[in-house]
Amino acid sequence: MTAEPPAPLADDARLDLSADEAAARVETTLAALDAELVGLASVKRRVREIASLLQVDRARERFGLTSSKPTLHMSFTGGPGTGKTTVAMRMASILHALGYIRTPRVHVVTRDDLVGQFIGHTAPKTKEALARAAGGVLFIDEAYYLFRPENERDYGQEVIEILLTEMENERGDLVVVFAGYPDRMGTFFSANPGLSSRVPHHIAFEDYDRTELMQIAELMVAEENFRFDPAAREAFSDYLTRRMKRPNFSNARSVRNAIERCRLRQARRLVALDRPLGKADLITITAEDVYGSSLFDDTTEQEGPAPG
Ligand SMILES: Nc1ncnc2c1ncn2[C@@H]1O[C@H](COP(=O)(O)OP(=O)(O)OP(=O)(O)O)[C@@H](O)[C@H]1O
Ligand SMILES: [Mg+2]
Repeated sequence: MTAEPPAPLADDARLDLSADEAAARVETTLAALDAELVGLASVKRRVREIASLLQVDRARERFGLTSSKPTLHMSFTGGPGTGKTTVAMRMASILHALGYIRTPRVHVVTRDDLVGQFIGHTAPKTKEALARAAGGVLFIDEAYYLFRPENERDYGQEVIEILLTEMENERGDLVVVFAGYPDRMGTFFSANPGLSSRVPHHIAFEDYDRTELMQIAELMVAEENFRFDPAAREAFSDYLTRRMKRPNFSNARSVRNAIERCRLRQARRLVALDRPLGKADLITITAEDVYGSSLFDDTTEQEGPAPG
């Protein structure tokens, strides 16, 4: 896979981990993870741990110390919109920078991409997904749908068996991430102990609190070159308090959707002004743009049609 290995270092040599150019690239990704994702302290810690593991593994290799490739299949459990897919992308960059996988690509699948409708259709579908993910990360969203305990002839079982074979391949360069909501993932793993034992890294994503959601909102607004004026900031915080109590609240995704709707109302307001607009007009989201939400007239605010 890699080029000709250099001669091993002498037993009394010293290796500076930070001098590894891959380590420098990883440090950049980790710093971006810290700066661009709000909260998630324990997730960030786990990502760093995995990066350290691989860095030390590389250092050991330089001394000619062989050991088996660490198993890095993972589970990401957490509520909707807590950053699982986002972190998977960053994780893939890190694993790639440290030479664990060949490509930083994440191939996202759900049950329908793996399970066939008819007998004989499942294996080819699953193998195709594995082929597409090869050398990178296979991210199985809502993994528990693979397992239907009520239906013993379910083809999902076949998928799990094929995955297991692939995951047990020592020389394989595929990382499988099983993602989903915590309670159902627990049931899924306890029903599939063989699978569970091949997944050493369980990473839990907590729901965000209101302060974190507000920070996420500020970050998203700034990213899009908008800003809340002070009254809008207060209105949005008020909005979050209400939204968090509603059904289908989806953490950071709900924040993103809410901001999109603020932008719509801002555009409507600006067009209705019927006067020349300045830069300040165009970038500012006002309290009116927030309070226009139907959440404030006590009917359920609609979320976007499909989560994605
Ligand atoms: N900690 C965070 N800081 C800033 N933005 C975040 C954070 N977590 C998530 N987001 C943003 O929220 C949105 C939803 O995140 P993501 O899709 O990663 O969540 P998810 O856990 O995969 O959700 P689901 O379970 O519904 O698939 C994305 O636009 C992402 O950029
Ligand atoms: Mg997701």
